[in-house]
Amino acid sequence: MLLWMLAMTSPTSVSAQTETGDALLTRGEYVLTISGCSHCHTAEGGEPLAGGRALETPFGTFYTPNITAHKTAGIGAWSAQDFLRALQHGESPEGSDYYPAFPYTSYTRLVADDARAMYDYILSRPASDQPNREHELAWYLQWRIAATVWKWLFFDAGEFREQPAQSAQWNRGAYIAEAMAHCSECHTARNLFGARQTNLAYAGNAQGPDDELVPNITPHQGTGIGDWSRDDLNLFLQFGELPDGEYTAGSMDPVIQGIGKLTATDRDALIDYLRALPAIDNRIGN
Ligand code: HEC
Ligand code: HEC
Repeated sequence: MLLWMLAMTSPTSVSAQTETGDALLTRGEYVLTISGCSHCHTAEGGEPLAGGRALETPFGTFYTPNITAHKTAGIGAWSAQDFLRALQHGESPEGSDYYPAFPYTSYTRLVADDARAMYDYILSRPASDQPNREHELAWYLQWRIAATVWKWLFFDAGEFREQPAQSAQWNRGAYIAEAMAHCSECHTARNLFGARQTNLAYAGNAQGPDDELVPNITPHQGTGIGDWSRDDLNLFLQFGELPDGEYTAGSMDPVIQGIGKLTATDRDALIDYLRALPAIDNRIGN
């Protein structure tokens, strides 16, 4: 555990060295928790990671699949390579393409060691035989070819690359935000095809999950969170407590359940990254 914590804070890399045994499982659990996999892949009151949560989108309803270690109902028969390909390339073991309702658009930035650790962790957990449920999608999306075309147009695959001009702390924060916690998947407006508008990264989304207003979290004074202090962010990212003493709600609440488990060092890194984002003037709601 201690070794793992040291490795996580290693100044030379966004990610730890390769471990084995318990350290690997601990790391896998950490990456899975911060990445928010359990929330989407667990139904209300259902078995962990057994899937069946309904995700309502403008394109129809997606039902998350079972990703427990079950050999037939889950991913227990997958190789580590299959798992990596799903996360980094949005591709199933049979070679078909996943819909981006599965945010591999962010997980593609995970380094292979982190994905591998999650794989080992998932296989060490209880298997569930809960069957998968078909998505209910608009007619034009019912063929997976739609996902293939979408990927050609909008998917940019590839592991996170450190920016040498930035500090190690900033790079670690960027990795947490972009690869693991996928903050920009909700906090960025999307175009007609459901792809993120990169020029508005983190500047909020008036049509977020379940039609929620997702606030602008760039450091813009007035429309973003430019007036939040480090302490405000620290409290928020741990407990979901807002500067006015209220607690966050909606789809941010399960996000806090995950990122609330960040180590203090990792939380600091994330705060540095958020505070250094370009300030974008974009008012969401009133
Ligand atoms: C926002 C909700 C969401 C989150 C968060 C999420 N997933 Fe998924 N995942 C989905 C959906 C929806 C699908 C089905 C995609 C499809 O059918 O094309 C899926 C598919 C998968 C598959 C393919 C399973 C199969 O049977 O083919 C794997 C593996 C997977 N997710 C693992 C993960 C892991 C690991 C994480 C965390 C790093 C994660 N998911 C986070 C929604 C999510
Ligand atoms: C699943 C979608 C989703 C993801 C992923 C997500 N957020 Fe949020 N976030 C929201 C929503 C929705 C709200 C507004 C909640 C409310 O109204 O209480 C919010 C609120 C916030 C706020 C409060 C801003 C304000 O002005 O009140 C901050 C800060 C924030 N998120 C930061 C983050 C960070 C950092 C990440 C990544 C670690 C992240 N969010 C990931 C949906 C998301």
